[in-house]
Amino acid sequence: MAEAGSFADRVKQQADIVRVVGEYVRLKKSGQNFTGLCPFHSEKTPSFAVHPVKQIYHCFGCGVGGDVFKFVMEMEKITFPEAVRAVAEKCGIAVPRARERTPEERRENQQRTSLVEMHREAAAFFAQQLGGTPEGKAARAYLLDRGLNSEAMVRFGIGFAPSGGEGLLRAMKQKYPEKVLEVSGLFSRDQSGRLYDRFRRRVMFPIANESGKIVAFGGRALGDDLPKYLNSPETLIYSKSNILYHLDRAKEALRQSDFAVLVEGYMDAIAVALAGISNVVASCGTSLTESQVKLLNRFTRRIVVNYDPDTAGQAATERSLSTLLEQGAEVRVLALPGGKDPDSFIRAEGAAAYTKLLKEAPPYVDYLIARARKMDLTSAEGKLRAVNFLMPYVQRIPDRILRSEWATRIAQQLRIEEPVLRESMRRAASERRSEVKSRPELVGRAGKPAERRLVQMLIEAEEFRLQLAQQIRAEDLHRGLETERILAVLVGACESGERPDAASLATALEDRDRRLLFEIAFEAAAAPTWEEAESCLAVLRRRRAEEELAAVQRQIETQSAAAGSNGELRRLLERKQELRRRLDPPAQ
Ligand code: UTP
Ligand code: MN
Repeated sequence: MAEAGSFADRVKQQADIVRVVGEYVRLKKSGQNFTGLCPFHSEKTPSFAVHPVKQIYHCFGCGVGGDVFKFVMEMEKITFPEAVRAVAEKCGIAVPRARERTPEERRENQQRTSLVEMHREAAAFFAQQLGGTPEGKAARAYLLDRGLNSEAMVRFGIGFAPSGGEGLLRAMKQKYPEKVLEVSGLFSRDQSGRLYDRFRRRVMFPIANESGKIVAFGGRALGDDLPKYLNSPETLIYSKSNILYHLDRAKEALRQSDFAVLVEGYMDAIAVALAGISNVVASCGTSLTESQVKLLNRFTRRIVVNYDPDTAGQAATERSLSTLLEQGAEVRVLALPGGKDPDSFIRAEGAAAYTKLLKEAPPYVDYLIARARKMDLTSAEGKLRAVNFLMPYVQRIPDRILRSEWATRIAQQLRIEEPVLRESMRRAASERRSEVKSRPELVGRAGKPAERRLVQMLIEAEEFRLQLAQQIRAEDLHRGLETERILAVLVGACESGERPDAASLATALEDRDRRLLFEIAFEAAAAPTWEEAESCLAVLRRRRAEEELAAVQRQIETQSAAAGSNGELRRLLERKQELRRRLDPPAQ
């Protein structure tokens, strides 16, 4: 990010992260660090720390972390260049004039600005149509019938697109060039090449981005027209997989309550919000994407999935569960009785009944067991199918003890003998390991003490970091460790003669590794010595030898069983002796 010698780099050198963060968070000195309440999730005891020497921040609760720019970017929801300027200004560093952008970039930026403006005007146009014409009156009646009063219509900016096919076009074409109308997603072209309104005779739900700017619409057919919902296509300002409906209005409540209700549809989100639960967002059809989960996780990691209980909704729930669990979310599932979606349930049973069920929503594993129990469990094949359905989810529970408790419960509930179940869990686990799939957050104490200490020494040991890095590289000692990727980037940085900086290394790491790196960087430790480094290296060498010994032993067994070539067996036995000696030096 901040390249050596760049303006950003200079700002970073001069800025004091404690002062900058201190403008947003009340910080207290605690040991070598400063701590305070995390501004990115709601908490009562401080787990947010700033390291004045390494110039980084990290929250041990929600896992956010980075350098001073990252902090300002996330706090102010601005881009990197904007954050650099903001920090420079806070610290009284003169900002050079912004570099002229390429004409291409400039044009795209202007188009973006026009599109946002056009969407704002379109929303106003649709809102004015609602109730304004005979068919607008019918649309209004439809919404009233669905339980939305005028106040709700205004609150959610709901409107109506008339059936004529050029109402919006007429309103916009004076002001915007055809080129911009064309890329707005609000118009289509007919066979003769003429533009006409994309949305016709539909109730319009404005879709806003995180900062509340309208960037797209979802339009619901009034009657049985198909499709039931028509949405804006992808445009310069709208990328479906990066947007959650209602997030802009839910942000505060998400932080305060520290949980989110995730629903499928526009009407569901609106109904739940009107029931007084404003920490609700909708994924709007299809399955939840990884970026949507990441977006939501910035506000809370605790999520109640409340999709439709129909078959499509169940499938969507299960797909979303995988995405959520992979991102380390803490998930519960609310399946409403009577086949109702949140909107129809609240309409029928009221807000209080909904709130009550929401509070009781079970952890996702309970939901899944209940689903598995509905399968045919009388036959062995049926049971196998049920276990196979559950296993991928159970394996995603990061905690071993918890996982084991679930195994017991599943065995009881599905009437499967526990040892049999555990065996299939073990098999699933080893298959999963060989798949090298992304695992849920397991940070905490991941990595053995020796590897953690080596990470720290590479960052801190001015005198011998290069020597240490070369040693690790020469023997390939980081291979297979939990900190493998962290050590790899660190060793690379040390070898190139850099002074490793946790925040810039982090940009080359995946989220889980970044968290682990920051946690290690924050661990207080005495000044490193080469002697200590040697002993950490020895631990890794020993581990390596132990692994090789186990492998050799396995090979010996297969060789003897197969009565293969004697030469090969002898070589293996010798290697075994050699490894034994290395691991167990004879007493002197
Ligand atoms: P549903 O079919 O469950 O509709 O789709 P709903 O939300 O209950 O709609 P109402 O209550 O009948 O008005 C859930 C969501 O999936 C997306 C929409 O975002 C919708 O809110 N969807 C659905 C589409 O994008 N296109 C469709 O044709 C249908
Ligand atoms: Mn519905």
